[in-house]
Amino acid sequence: MAKLNWGMIGGGEGSQIGPAHRLGAQADGNFILAAGALDVDAEKGRAYAQSLGIAADRAYADWQEMLDGETGRDDRVDLVTVATPNSTHFEITKAFLEAGFNVLCEKPMTMTVEEGEEIVRVAKASGKICAVNYCYSAYPMVREMRHMVRTGQIGKVRLVVANFSHGHHGDATDADNPRVRWRYDPAMAGVSGQFADCGIHALHMASFIAGDQVRSLSADFASTIPTRELEDDAMVNFRMEGGTVGRLWTSSVAIGRQHGFDIQVFGETGGMRWASEQPNQVFYTPVGGRTQIMEKGDGTLSDEATRLSRVAIAHPEGFPLAVANIYVDLAAAIQGETRDGLPTAEDGLRSMAAVYASVGSAKDNGAWVDARPPMFR
Ligand code: NAI
Repeated sequence: MAKLNWGMIGGGEGSQIGPAHRLGAQADGNFILAAGALDVDAEKGRAYAQSLGIAADRAYADWQEMLDGETGRDDRVDLVTVATPNSTHFEITKAFLEAGFNVLCEKPMTMTVEEGEEIVRVAKASGKICAVNYCYSAYPMVREMRHMVRTGQIGKVRLVVANFSHGHHGDATDADNPRVRWRYDPAMAGVSGQFADCGIHALHMASFIAGDQVRSLSADFASTIPTRELEDDAMVNFRMEGGTVGRLWTSSVAIGRQHGFDIQVFGETGGMRWASEQPNQVFYTPVGGRTQIMEKGDGTLSDEATRLSRVAIAHPEGFPLAVANIYVDLAAAIQGETRDGLPTAEDGLRSMAAVYASVGSAKDNGAWVDARPPMFR
């Protein structure tokens, strides 16, 4: 495979998600980090970009300069990753798609449903790839669960129970820490706090594994730390198009839970469980049978789970390699191959529709509401 040029916006020094993108994109040698506007502080961003090996003329002060600079080059970047704070995703992603670049955008893709629909339209019109970083769906054992559902190994899926609940914002004495406070401030975070931050990962995974889309939902939101305007805890009940029942709990005040993302899928003939803190295993129980622990790297797994496993059985494989799996498929897709499973702008839009539906439902005492984006109704 030819080497591809890659650019990053955001993900500067000290950022949370930047390192996972750099490890992921470069893990397989498909991408060369060729350009970047890495930091909101132009000089810091330029210096850090050069320390990562980006040439001085492609270490840009901001994303607009990068757009201008890259548009005019023969060796322009083949892919742009947008890893800036949420409120900037829409305008950056739209501008790069319109200029003919492929984009990987961090979640949430946009701040509103209308913006989400606009990105879907722009991506379609551009003919370029617009992926969204629902990277948990790229863990090998998550792909195995999806394969098991697709091949009927647990029968029709009756129920999905997903949790993304951690306790890292559970200390009320730390609630005014600026790094925490903005997440619950509508001026900075938008209409939703914890659900838009973590809940949408779990909801995307529920759809991804079940092979079905959320149709309607009912939500209960709580700000358990009273100074918070936006929710730090949410319980969302949902129904999928095919009739699957869904339950989702997301919280940032669940002290003692660490990463806290797990999912259970219950079908007519079996059940499965996966947790991000033990990502190499799926617990599978056939109806009337014993629970089996399925392990990443086991020779009996599906081709898809095998393809995305990088190191031998029992060697731990973690988050950056799940991100790397997204980049492997992006590299293939950029070069014209079809890769099933890459999270798309449509997924980003569905998440935003679910966020707004949840906010509306929670304000209306948990009324059941349509959770589909208008353009998909
Ligand atoms: P952060 O605050 O740790 O880092 C943000 C970085 O972007 C900083 O380097 C900052 O200087 C830079 N930046 C800010 N505005 C910029 C601009 N206009 N142009 C260029 N650079 C700019 O944020 P974090 O936690 O890394 O989150 C970034 C995004 O990644 C968010 O949208 C977040 O939701 C998402 N994220 C996704 C995760 C996943 O599992 N897929 C996990 C963590 C974050």
